[in-house]
Amino acid sequence: MKNAVSPSNDEIKAAMLKYDFALQILETQLKILIKEYETKYQYHPVEHIKSRIKTIDSAIAKLQKKGYEVNLYNLEHHVHDIIGIRIVCSFLSDTYKIVEMLENSSFIKIIEKKDYISHPKPSGYTSYHLIVKIPVCLVSGIEEVEAEIQIRTIAMDFWASLDHKIQYKFSNDIPTEIKKELYNCAVDIKKLDQKMLILNDIVNRYYK
Ligand code: GTP
Ligand code: MG
Repeated sequence: MKNAVSPSNDEIKAAMLKYDFALQILETQLKILIKEYETKYQYHPVEHIKSRIKTIDSAIAKLQKKGYEVNLYNLEHHVHDIIGIRIVCSFLSDTYKIVEMLENSSFIKIIEKKDYISHPKPSGYTSYHLIVKIPVCLVSGIEEVEAEIQIRTIAMDFWASLDHKIQYKFSNDIPTEIKKELYNCAVDIKKLDQKMLILNDIVNRYYK
């Protein structure tokens, strides 16, 4: 077992510095890719991007929830979303364009893909998740740092944000009737996303 002695908060803070650097690099790289895409295709696939770094307390809580001992090795290997980036798109088709764009990047290495757009969670949660690794050049050498990228439409983001608030309010023990209604909303949102996409295609045909 590595790092059998629990690290101090200062040690964790130092270890987490690289996540700050990695987020800055990833945000810049994403801006470059998106700008290049927009220039090439004269099209804006991204509505907005949000990012966050997990607090030390919340990273430790996640590790404990998963049943791991708190040490730097486990933090790095078992908490995959210390860096979280959310790319919110206007249309359903844009989400897959972004996934493809990231897949084609030689800088961003994709470790895991979860397509909750084609296969939503039983709750109705819909989004595309990627776990990626990006290189960070430190004094000690190059380190690959993990990040979670969530890609979704504005409508999916609306649903997820309400779901998140409800989960918080009920401490994850959501009454069945609310769960059902949330699921129904997810179904409506899926239909709405498809309708908006069709409408956008019609609008685009007028321009041709
Ligand atoms: P953890 O990373 O340990 O949470 O488990 P996992 O890798 O199986 O999770 P997954 O990739 O399915 O989801 C990770 C993140 O997606 C969560 O931290 C949330 O931000 C988001 N997410 C997943 N499921 C839901 C959901 O049902 N509702 C909402 N609002 N967000 C969700
Ligand atoms: Mg995860």
